[in-house]
Amino acid sequence: MDARKQVIVIGVCGSVAAVEDVKLIRELRRQNFDVYVVMSENAKNIVGKDALEWASEHKVTDKISGSVEHVYFCGVQGIADLLLICPCTANTLSKIACGIDDTSVTTFATTALGSKKKIIIVPAMHISMYHNPFVAENVENLKKQGIKFVEKFEGNKVKFPDIDEIVRVVKEEISKFKD
Ligand SMILES: Cc1cc2nc3c(=O)[nH]c(=O)nc-3n(C[C@H](O)[C@H](O)[C@H](O)COP(=O)(O)O)c2cc1C
Repeated sequence: MDARKQVIVIGVCGSVAAVEDVKLIRELRRQNFDVYVVMSENAKNIVGKDALEWASEHKVTDKISGSVEHVYFCGVQGIADLLLICPCTANTLSKIACGIDDTSVTTFATTALGSKKKIIIVPAMHISMYHNPFVAENVENLKKQGIKFVEKFEGNKVKFPDIDEIVRVVKEEISKFKD
C-alpha cells in the first residue's frame, strides 16, 4: 500500500502573483505532495478557481461551509501537514497577525495557528506596502510566532520567489519536528 502523501494547503490571496500558483501547485505535486487550495474572494479577481482545481485535482475552498473546511484541514486532527499562504497580501498577513478572521484564507490561518500547524507565508507586494510600519510590525509578530517567511526583495517589490526556492523551503519545514 502507498504511504500517505503529505498534504499542503495553499492559501491564495488577491495579489497579482497569484497567477504563479498554477505552476507552483503542479511542481509541488510532481514532488509527491497532495495539494489543496483555499482562496480569498479577492484572489478570484486574479486567478480562476477552475485553473486551481485543474492544477490541484481537488475542489477549491472559496467559502467556509457547513463542512467546516478550516477544521477538516487545519484543526488539531486536520489533514494538512503545512499551510502555505502564497502569495500573501499585506491585508491577509495583517489580519492574521491581529487575529482577524473574515475570509476563507484567514479562517484557515487562524485555525492552523491555534492547532500549531506549520505555516509558511510568501508575501508579494510593493515594498511601500511591506514597509508600512503597521504591516512591518505584523510581519515581525508573525515571525515571532514561528511562521516561516520566504521573502524575495527585488527593486521596489517583494516579488514572488522562484518556484524551486518555495519548494525547497516547503520540504525543509515539513521535515522539521514540531510538537
Ligand atoms: C490587480 C491587483 C493586484 C494586486 N496586487 C497586490 C499585491 O501584490 N499585494 C498586495 O498586498 N495587495 C495587492 N492587491 C490588493 C489586494 O487585492 C487587496 O488588498 C485585497 O483586499 C486583498 O484581499 P485578500 O487579502 O483577502 O486576498 C492587488 C489588487 C489588484 C486589483
